[in-house]
Amino acid sequence: MKRRIVVCITGSTGAIYGTRLLQACSKIENLETHAVISSAAEATIRLELHKEREEVEKMATYAYSEYDFEAPIASGSFITDSMIVAPCSMKTLSSIATGFEQNLVTRAAMVALKERRPLILLTRETPLNLIQLRNMVQVTEAGGIIMPPLPPLYFEPKNMVELADLTVGRVLNMVGVKTDLLREWGKEKLTD
Ligand SMILES: Cc1cc2nc3c(=O)[nH]c(=O)nc-3n(C[C@H](O)[C@H](O)[C@H](O)COP(=O)(O)O)c2cc1C
Repeated sequence: MKRRIVVCITGSTGAIYGTRLLQACSKIENLETHAVISSAAEATIRLELHKEREEVEKMATYAYSEYDFEAPIASGSFITDSMIVAPCSMKTLSSIATGFEQNLVTRAAMVALKERRPLILLTRETPLNLIQLRNMVQVTEAGGIIMPPLPPLYFEPKNMVELADLTVGRVLNMVGVKTDLLREWGKEKLTD
């Protein structure tokens, strides 16, 4: 069976993370992506990447509309391996933290948590207020992983794509997918 990853893009700044993630996944054999792009993300995709939602959806194996509660990923009986929200807005974070299944992104996240599947949120906001910090704690206690996309500048990324890919490599590694985007500090110093 192919590995299945749910990839959601929500409306915080950083649409590049979700699109680079879908791009990287599209090059991996035996892996299918199930994508949801929120309507707010449509705006950031247009603003930051000068793309339309449909262009990004084409990078995914399957794409669903934000309110398609009949999509396979809305049910735990549809077996997926993990879910990544990249980037994850504070609104989506709060919906997940409170179990408010207001769209397919939050429904799929609730499914991931109840089925004890890895759920990684690339939460993006700064600075953070107490409500947002508490929401992050709540999701962590429920089994989710909060992974703000903070770039490892020690790898000296030369442009935005390289910078985003450093995070994409780490995220994919966290869900058990090894790619050549993964950079390991000090690896070249190892002798064997
Ligand atoms: C250009 C732009 C940048 C935004 N950046 C952020 C952000 O970094 N973090 C955030 O939580 N919301 C951000 N927002 C606000 C979200 O888009 C808004 O809260 C939206 O309701 C999120 O909906 P969603 O979670 O369903 O995608 C931004 C909005 C725009 C237009």
